[in-house]
Amino acid sequence: KTLWKSPTMRMKDPALEVNVDLKGIKHLLLLTSDANDGNSYDHADWGNAFIQHDGVAPKMLDNKIVLEMADSLMAFEVRGNKVYQLYFGSKLDHLEDTNVSGLAYPTLWDHPYTENAISMIQGDGKISLDLEYVGHEVKQRSDNQSEVLFKMRDPQYPVEVELHYLASKKENVIEQWAVVKNTGEKEVTVIHAASGFIGLRAHRYFLTTFTGSWGAEALMHEEQLVNGTKEIQSHTGTRTSQTGQPAFLLSLDHPAEEDRGEVILGNLAWSGNWRMRFSVDAFNRLTSQMGYDPTLSRYKLKKNETLETPKLILTHSSHGKGEATRNLHRWARKYGIRGGDVPRRILLNSWEGAYFSFDDKLIKRMISDAAKTGIELFVLDDGWFGKKHPRNNDRAGLGDWMVNTDKLKGGLQGLIDHAQKENIDFGIWVEPEMVNPKSELYENHPDWVIELPHRRQRLQRTQLGLDLANPDVQQYIFTVMDDLLGKHPGISYIKWDCNRAISDPGSNYLTSDRQEHLWIDYVKGYYKVLERITQKYPKVTFQVCGSGGGRTDYGSMKYHHEFWTSDNTDARERVMMQWSINHLYPAIATAAHVTEVPNHQTGRVTPIKYRFDVAMTGRLGFELRPERVPASDMEFSKRAIQAYKEIRPIVQFGDLYRLRSPFKNKMASMMYVYERKDKPTEALFFAFTTEKNMHDHSGPVKLKGLNPHSRYRLTEINLAKPGKHLTRVHNKTLGGDYLMQRGIAIPWRRGDYQSVVIKIVEVK
Ligand code: DGJ
Repeated sequence: KTLWKSPTMRMKDPALEVNVDLKGIKHLLLLTSDANDGNSYDHADWGNAFIQHDGVAPKMLDNKIVLEMADSLMAFEVRGNKVYQLYFGSKLDHLEDTNVSGLAYPTLWDHPYTENAISMIQGDGKISLDLEYVGHEVKQRSDNQSEVLFKMRDPQYPVEVELHYLASKKENVIEQWAVVKNTGEKEVTVIHAASGFIGLRAHRYFLTTFTGSWGAEALMHEEQLVNGTKEIQSHTGTRTSQTGQPAFLLSLDHPAEEDRGEVILGNLAWSGNWRMRFSVDAFNRLTSQMGYDPTLSRYKLKKNETLETPKLILTHSSHGKGEATRNLHRWARKYGIRGGDVPRRILLNSWEGAYFSFDDKLIKRMISDAAKTGIELFVLDDGWFGKKHPRNNDRAGLGDWMVNTDKLKGGLQGLIDHAQKENIDFGIWVEPEMVNPKSELYENHPDWVIELPHRRQRLQRTQLGLDLANPDVQQYIFTVMDDLLGKHPGISYIKWDCNRAISDPGSNYLTSDRQEHLWIDYVKGYYKVLERITQKYPKVTFQVCGSGGGRTDYGSMKYHHEFWTSDNTDARERVMMQWSINHLYPAIATAAHVTEVPNHQTGRVTPIKYRFDVAMTGRLGFELRPERVPASDMEFSKRAIQAYKEIRPIVQFGDLYRLRSPFKNKMASMMYVYERKDKPTEALFFAFTTEKNMHDHSGPVKLKGLNPHSRYRLTEINLAKPGKHLTRVHNKTLGGDYLMQRGIAIPWRRGDYQSVVIKIVEVK
């Protein structure tokens, strides 16, 4: 009562309610009428309202709903019976200056000729949907998160849609999604339902996408959007990020820059088929929508059934894509990935060191050698299972999750005991969604696979996919994992792989009128299984893998702590790949392994220092046989592992500043800055050459993210040989202003693949 007054508003009791969050949202004004009776609004009844906040002058907001974050805001306006998106951008002093930019969630009825967010077939068979506003709610989820939920309803058909917007204030991130509900007797069909719909007006639009393939995942590409529609999508059913990240970066007016200009960075939290469309119309307006891919995915709803779209994660920055990335990373560490506040262990994975050829003796040796080097976790990859059909190559055994005691005589427990004796943790690889036809699982349950009748089964990597839409399959996977982790509490890490796509989308479980549900129900099944396992084993670390980086998405990251970035572990290639993927995901989740050279991908020979320095920009690990590493490299490795332990919090919890892009230069350079209250700021500077025998004349690299008024002590670490530092700033104390304005000159020497790492500590 005391918080607002409304001189011009005509009120009829109980026609008006005002909900004000007292905890400090500055202007969140909610106006609802007695619309719950289904009557639509007469917006003429709405006058202006004032809300007083924090003792500051009252702010006129009309009938606007505002989600305010630290630096940006998203605002809506209800006009008549429609919800409009009013604004998405940096904060404004006077929101009332803005004009509606378009409907927040237009239906086919609203936009019959242009992009629309949702279309449906009603119970009478007509392609028809109109949505009218019936009210909204605001939920304060925590001090940092508030949610607005708009309720909309078709005035003629029994269909309801809820539109959710969840804001994380400090991180400037909004998650948005929709829930469609059939409230009528007759079945309805959702033709498509986007997670988010954004309208923008600017002079020019530049879109960056992150497309790829096996061994070259998520490589960035920027293009100007011109009149027409640009669509990016993945339709492989599983490991859908192998061909491209479900993500985009939109830069307004000019190509994206690190520290300047307005950008929107978005990412869809979905591990299945996805689609994003960007349409520039004749008036140079951009409308874009992002969501699950509706191709051959019509979804039927019986009475009271709902379809919830995946969440679209959005952040806006007026200071370029560097800030957008930092927003997303901070959000990810807090809300987007599992255990974002828990330091990750340094691990040795057996794959490139042993592939399928190993026995107890070799694995125990690898475990002991890893422990001696200072590695904290050993992960046994593919090849440890299968009885009747032992998994000695990729042609047999997948699905038979019993240990192969011909190879591992002491069983898994023998290895776990050995690891415990050596004081190193133990983890294991699984691929529970898949089956080789040559397996006991397939012999017992041939009907569990995804296949089409009357067509030959098409194998990928000699395997078939199980139908995760089937609850029996879900239960089976849960039981397999429960047995493994229950029997072996010493397993503290799971690598969850997925090595084929869905090519022949036939489900033996779904009824004939629900075959199109497979794409969505598969992903829901995958999440359900992971939900149960991770609830039961909350302490086990999970890594998601899809033939490399094919399952790197925020849908998976809810259950996994990290992702396997790529099977391409060539350090030079990783500079590019990690540069790209770290636009979207933080270092703490980015598995980066030092391997032997030449390795299975490029055959390139890079020095051990270069391999380490590249891997140390992410979650450091190894994929090699320590016994084959030359003695001098081993000495270096021990020192570098120790160094990583010291700098781990800076990489894993610090903010990423990109300094020089390898896509535009012959080198790459970036920094992590880790700020904490009451402690000196610590930072790390990395630089890598990407061309052979380069002579670099590109000038000093200017640092970012430091306090210009502080002084910093600089120490080159990971020196190829003790005393062999490269820069002149080694062991010097310099000012933040100097480092950011003048920068660090790197006198690269002649020679291939050079790198430098400098630890920077604030001197208090
Ligand atoms: C594909 C993964 O990306 C590799 O790291 C390895 O785990 C193999 N599968 C094992 O089959």
